[in-house]
Amino acid sequence: MLAELALQALTPAGPLARRFGLLREGIALWSRGRRQRKAWEPHRARCRAIIAEVAASLPRRRKVVVLGSGPVRDIPLDALCASFDEVVLVDIVHLPLLRLKLWRQPKISLLSRDLTGAMAWLAGDVESRQDPLADLVADGSVDLVISANLLSQLAWPVADWLEENPARAAALPDNLPARCIAWHLDDLARFKGHICLISDVEMVERDRSGAIHERLDLMYGVKLPQEDESWLWPVAPFGEAERKREYVHKVHVWRRYEGRSSTL
Ligand SMILES: C[S@@+](CC[C@H](N)C(=O)[O-])C[C@H]1O[C@@H](n2cnc3c(N)ncnc32)[C@H](O)[C@@H]1O
Repeated sequence: MLAELALQALTPAGPLARRFGLLREGIALWSRGRRQRKAWEPHRARCRAIIAEVAASLPRRRKVVVLGSGPVRDIPLDALCASFDEVVLVDIVHLPLLRLKLWRQPKISLLSRDLTGAMAWLAGDVESRQDPLADLVADGSVDLVISANLLSQLAWPVADWLEENPARAAALPDNLPARCIAWHLDDLARFKGHICLISDVEMVERDRSGAIHERLDLMYGVKLPQEDESWLWPVAPFGEAERKREYVHKVHVWRRYEGRSSTL
């Protein structure tokens, strides 16, 4: 708890990250990841192995962009640094421990961005959604883009914020959480380099007998192509969120994401 308060005070974060609760969530994720290290490791190890395999298969390795880099626990950072000229980590929050660890790593740069592109618009600071990836899409040296357990996270903070701000929500288009998912998928498809997409897509709440109490579509109805592989990630084992309930997410991987056929 004390460590979380200290991090809250010490982490440099823009006003949008604070207003949309993403600073608090980034710190909570870091703590939860430490507490649940053992339960989460198979998921993390699988993410790292897949990303390393995809990277190794590429004919050219100039720049790699990691979207939703967070605490960089799902990313084989050493392998990426060894095989690419440049590594760009993009997230709305970069915690101080990570900044400290990466200080003096000449290949790595950190970009702080809202990857929905919509938060400044929702907050009324600008007139419309801003393209969050225009400069990186235009950069012809990006050979690999990894969207790393980010996609589902783009929707719910927006959903929560709209619920807390009903007057503003009434003046905005419908379906904004789903649109945030769809925008990110369409943003990814604009890159010329190879795209690897990893995301949790469904949450299941179970009791100790295994009975399912809730099943939540984390993609808000947005349709994705057939995944290459899939596994379960015990995000909150019994005792983490509730004593008698566990929350398990289904993770899907598209080793080479090439866009989606339907539009929202
Ligand atoms: C589950 S974590 C990703 C874990 C990370 N890939 C790792 O290797 O540890 C999701 C990340 O998405 C980031 N995120 C959520 N909403 C975002 C937004 N609108 N723009 C940019 N990053 C966002 C969070 O800050 C968090 O770091």
